[in-house]
Amino acid sequence: MAPFKPDPCLFLIFGATGDLARKKLFPAFYNLYIDNFLPASTRLVAVGRRPYNQDAFREQILLPSLKTFSRRADKLEQTFAGFAARCVYFQSDIYDPQGYARLKDLLRQLEEGRATGGNRVYYLAVAPVHFGRLVAGLREENILANSGWQRVIIEKPFGHDLESARRLNRLLDQVFAEEEIYRIDHYLGKEMIQNIMVIRFANAFFEPVWNNKYIDHVQISSVETVGVGERGGYYEKAGALRDMVQNHMLQLLAMIAMEPPSSLATGAIRDEKVKILRSLRSLNPEAVRRDAVRGQYGEGFIEGKPVVAYRQEKDVAADSATETFVALKIFIDNFRWAGVPFYIRTGKRLPVKSTEIILQFKALPEVLYFKEYGELQPNLLVIRVQPYEGVFVQLNAKRPGNNNYIVPIRLDFCQNCEAGVNSPEAYERLLYDAMRGDRTLFTGWEEVEQSWRFIDPIAKVWAAAAPLFPNYAAGQWGPEAAASLLLKDGRRWWNAPAAQQE
Ligand code: BG6
Repeated sequence: MAPFKPDPCLFLIFGATGDLARKKLFPAFYNLYIDNFLPASTRLVAVGRRPYNQDAFREQILLPSLKTFSRRADKLEQTFAGFAARCVYFQSDIYDPQGYARLKDLLRQLEEGRATGGNRVYYLAVAPVHFGRLVAGLREENILANSGWQRVIIEKPFGHDLESARRLNRLLDQVFAEEEIYRIDHYLGKEMIQNIMVIRFANAFFEPVWNNKYIDHVQISSVETVGVGERGGYYEKAGALRDMVQNHMLQLLAMIAMEPPSSLATGAIRDEKVKILRSLRSLNPEAVRRDAVRGQYGEGFIEGKPVVAYRQEKDVAADSATETFVALKIFIDNFRWAGVPFYIRTGKRLPVKSTEIILQFKALPEVLYFKEYGELQPNLLVIRVQPYEGVFVQLNAKRPGNNNYIVPIRLDFCQNCEAGVNSPEAYERLLYDAMRGDRTLFTGWEEVEQSWRFIDPIAKVWAAAAPLFPNYAAGQWGPEAAASLLLKDGRRWWNAPAAQQE
């Protein structure tokens, strides 16, 4: 079947010489081109501050970005010239008023005689402090008042707390309708996250047991081996709570916990997610101290190599109180989930890179299989988001032989373990969806609002008390308190094995 192509458009990326454009956006756009998802007249307009002519941009920015970060880099020799011809670089400082008038002219020229019909996507891949100026510049120069559809894509973080998120939303609201705003949460573009709904709602044996009668608890872990790298300046103000929990982790939780939507329409799915976010039990200061764990990495070893402590990273304060690890115990106060804890955990400089969602089922009465035959392991449903994409179910079975030993076995499906499977990256799917006007995998304002409502009280308690950091060595599974969070409930984290790195 030929790929469905979205309407042709001009796709503008502001912040074109930045990290995000280089690592994610150009490669995603290129991969869509290779897979024939882009109409012939669609053009990428890369807007950046640095002075490059077209050739220099193509050779010094575009080509290295694709070589290093595209999963289709093997095709570059045959395809780069054709792709580069669809990309235009435009040099401008977003604080230069003349820049907007020049941009307007360029867009007109590009639209002349081309079938884009005035359709445009504006991708704001710049630091949030610049959003205000950028949006005002586009509005003042009447760039947005164009024929065709206009859509804006906003990178996270969407605000720093509820109040600033509201301010940012008001700013966008003055210029764009909610249907035109695409708030990115790139986790929603990941293959296995899209698969959650299929696993849940297309399999007769999961949905009936997906509730507090059968599920003991849920674990959602997204852990990384990388440190803060070059992003110390940003991360110092964000920390893991705002960088990962407010968005990615709560989105995963909402997808796992939501009720079946009435249809697959954007609004129907969003409504169900919002209901979950509204039902999160807010953590009062006492609960924060009991059920919220924060950590910061000290020096240690990652994959056998020594690495520095967070406080020694570039642009990080020597006495930084920013958390690089968070673990939370969360309750959803609704009918389906009453009494089921959701443990979520995220951190940098942990032993493996892995995102997994684990549903642990309640224990059965052990009347038939006594301890002498081996301890019964719990039934688990594990959704592996990355690096392996798949799902497995852990069951108990009899070990072959004359004794009734019981051993855990796995029904395991791994989507990307087979050679030749090269799943699209999250950003490919998201850019494609933005071009075809599908907002389902983007975050609605109400979801953002409810997430901050849950996060703010935790951030407030943490800001008021200086932590004893660092409290875990790089390469360990976070601070002791994270393990205790489950141990005191008689549970344990299921850590992804280091072998996943192979
Ligand atoms: C980003 C965070 O949103 O997600 C980063 O800002 C984090 O700090 C990244 O490293 C993780 O994404 P992924 O896709 O590698 O799991």
